[in-house]
Amino acid sequence: MNVFDSQHEFVDNNSVEASGYKLGSGDFLYQRFSNYVSPEQVKGLKVLDIGSKLGAAGAYVLSNGASKYVGVDFDPVFVKASRENLKKYYDESKYEIILSDAETLMYHDKFDIVFVGRVLHQFKNSFLLLKTLSEIADSIVIEDLHPPQFILNYLLEKNNVDNLQELKHELEYNYPIHECHSVDVVNFLSNYPFGNSDTVISNPAHGSAYSIGFLRNIFRYWSFNLDLTGYEVMKKMYPNEYGLGKSNSLQECKKYIVKFNKNV
Ligand SMILES: C[S@@+](CC[C@H](N)C(=O)[O-])C[C@H]1O[C@@H](n2cnc3c(N)ncnc32)[C@H](O)[C@@H]1O
Repeated sequence: MNVFDSQHEFVDNNSVEASGYKLGSGDFLYQRFSNYVSPEQVKGLKVLDIGSKLGAAGAYVLSNGASKYVGVDFDPVFVKASRENLKKYYDESKYEIILSDAETLMYHDKFDIVFVGRVLHQFKNSFLLLKTLSEIADSIVIEDLHPPQFILNYLLEKNNVDNLQELKHELEYNYPIHECHSVDVVNFLSNYPFGNSDTVISNPAHGSAYSIGFLRNIFRYWSFNLDLTGYEVMKKMYPNEYGLGKSNSLQECKKYIVKFNKNV
């Protein structure tokens, strides 16, 4: 049962249309969240949602029996709307929406799972936020942008490549690379022994894309394992939206979904 069929307030009808289906449609939202964590698995879990917007993830997890949902957003318009939306359907003791910049918030609680949906590239230093999240959660789901075409071009120039398909596969799944906007972040990252990683300093208008390989390296360092099951399902269902794209524009970059689980 898709909660968004009856709870329309959570669906962002203003989202851009992409490749034949509405990004904001209830079906699409439901598929995204159920590939973050299935309806069966979310029962009883305490969930943190970074960049909670209209509270849609809250509706998904609470309608499937999560014990608590905490959303964080720095936009007062979305904070007000999500509080109003959730209040209509859910017990107020089950959720909280915090108005704050997620990068500067002090996180006191622990969570079973954190969602970082389509927002990581917007942070100034995503690495620091991920480090904090790795200390307070058992699982972290990140949905974000693959590196854009100019990074593929940069790699093509740098490596002597015979097989483009192979390089694309490497970039999609393994190559550790990330964009950032300042030398400070590059210097900061050089203090961490992740193994080799390429850093590209790029235009802030693009946001800062992290490759799956880069995320895998840093989370391995923090003792988390990578699960790509949800990504593969979404790639099959929405091939124009997930997978390595060939665009340079932020709006057209395709996405991945990665889930990191703490080693026990
Ligand atoms: C593209 S929307 C994604 C919404 C939702 N997470 C999803 O996956 O559908 C990004 C949201 O993150 C919020 N956001 C961006 N930067 C933020 C920050 N530094 N702290 C808190 N919220 C932020 C925006 O206000 C917006 O609501």
